[in-house]
Amino acid sequence: MASQNSSILTRRDVLLGSAGLAAAALCRTPVSASEARLHEISLTCDRALVAMVGSPHPDTEVWCYNGAQPGPEIRVRQGDRLRVRVENRLPQETTVHWHGIRLPNAMDGVPHLTQKPISPGETYTYEFICPDAGTFWYHPHQRSFEQVGRGLYGALIVEEPEAPDVDRDVTWVLSDWRLLKNAAISDDFGNMHDVSHNGRVGNTVTVNGRVRDTFAVRAGERIRLRLINAANARIFGLEFAEHEPTVIALDGQPVEPHTPEGGRVVLGPAMRADIVLDMKASSGKRFTVADRFYRGLHYRLLDLLYSEAEPSSRVGERSPVRLAANPLAEPDLGAAERHQVVMGGGMMGGMRSAMMDGRETDIRTLMHNGLVWAINGIAAKGHAHEPLLSFARGRSYVVELVNDTAWHHPMHLHGHSFRVISRNGTPTPRREWQDTVLLEPRERTEIAFVADNPGDWMFHCHILEHQAGGMMGVFRVS
Ligand code: C2O
Ligand code: CU
Repeated sequence: MASQNSSILTRRDVLLGSAGLAAAALCRTPVSASEARLHEISLTCDRALVAMVGSPHPDTEVWCYNGAQPGPEIRVRQGDRLRVRVENRLPQETTVHWHGIRLPNAMDGVPHLTQKPISPGETYTYEFICPDAGTFWYHPHQRSFEQVGRGLYGALIVEEPEAPDVDRDVTWVLSDWRLLKNAAISDDFGNMHDVSHNGRVGNTVTVNGRVRDTFAVRAGERIRLRLINAANARIFGLEFAEHEPTVIALDGQPVEPHTPEGGRVVLGPAMRADIVLDMKASSGKRFTVADRFYRGLHYRLLDLLYSEAEPSSRVGERSPVRLAANPLAEPDLGAAERHQVVMGGGMMGGMRSAMMDGRETDIRTLMHNGLVWAINGIAAKGHAHEPLLSFARGRSYVVELVNDTAWHHPMHLHGHSFRVISRNGTPTPRREWQDTVLLEPRERTEIAFVADNPGDWMFHCHILEHQAGGMMGVFRVS
């Protein structure tokens, strides 16, 4: 009798446990580790042939996950625990970094800093909870200028407990490739010209792994479009013809819904934007989505093609989409400690020397080592370094990022999201949360955050050739 009672109690405890989980999900507080649902997947890194450009061009050999380029879109719900078994069948060591996820340092996928790289033939298992809903992605951090350039990455979507009211939730992974005439990937990775200028900007842009002509839409529908810039170096500036995009999230974090300046969505490498597009035109029409970021290099990405189907009856009936905030700690600007980080070097940067391996080194010797960029005068060779900055856990920081170069730099911090609070001395109107902030040439910006995630975290330019060329460092939180 007693044992029966205790088993009933146990069952009731389990039920109460799951009700508690549902309630926690609704108010979007972080779910504790023991309550999280487990989501298990495997990723195999290997070569594959894909129809990237399409006939009459031959297939392209890429490096990718599970034979697909981009790799599988991983979808979990906010608060879920993700366990990923990674098998490396590449001819090189690799790691997987979960870009933008605020996870424990040991799961961050940085070679020699947070883990030993995964050797060819070996497997490694990552496991972590996804605390924030939003659009994220995964990619290697080992020789990423080559491995990402060959196609190793995929989307990681963390769904809100309550999905916003849209008809379709669509991801566009934007890639940029440098292809030869036979559609093979040019293997001039990491050449000094790319490293010292604007990185490996290619000649072929794909959406979800293929050169596209059209994207089919239906009159009256509302689409949530998750844009991910997975390119090594290309910056996108997308315009949607007569359609006005409403940006609802940046780098996975909700933002005050707004129309971007000039209706153009600008995304540096690694950055994401969630936009809402209302298909307000009529059946059968066609509109060009164009990338107008680089002057003189405008091109048509694809056309939005309205089907002949009847418009959906919901046209014009809907209120704007607004996402609930993620559980991020709010920096206390009054009490924040301030630091400055200066990015220098590159072509026309006038850098004469920098610290390399702890020694002041002249530019010729730096270049022999493939280095042309520096942060606070230090050119980083490899990932493991003495920290550039050390932060006290739980404390608020304002870091001024100064771009003292003639080039754009999308600067990324691991393990945290930060608010972008000013640009060139002017407060930003939306104080957006980002994990990667795009700095224009000579621009300065202030970011603010609570250093609440302990560990050694990479801070680097996400133009992968700049990163390899020295523009990276470590921020320590302890
Ligand atoms: Cu998306 Cu350090 O990387
Ligand atoms: Cu850069």
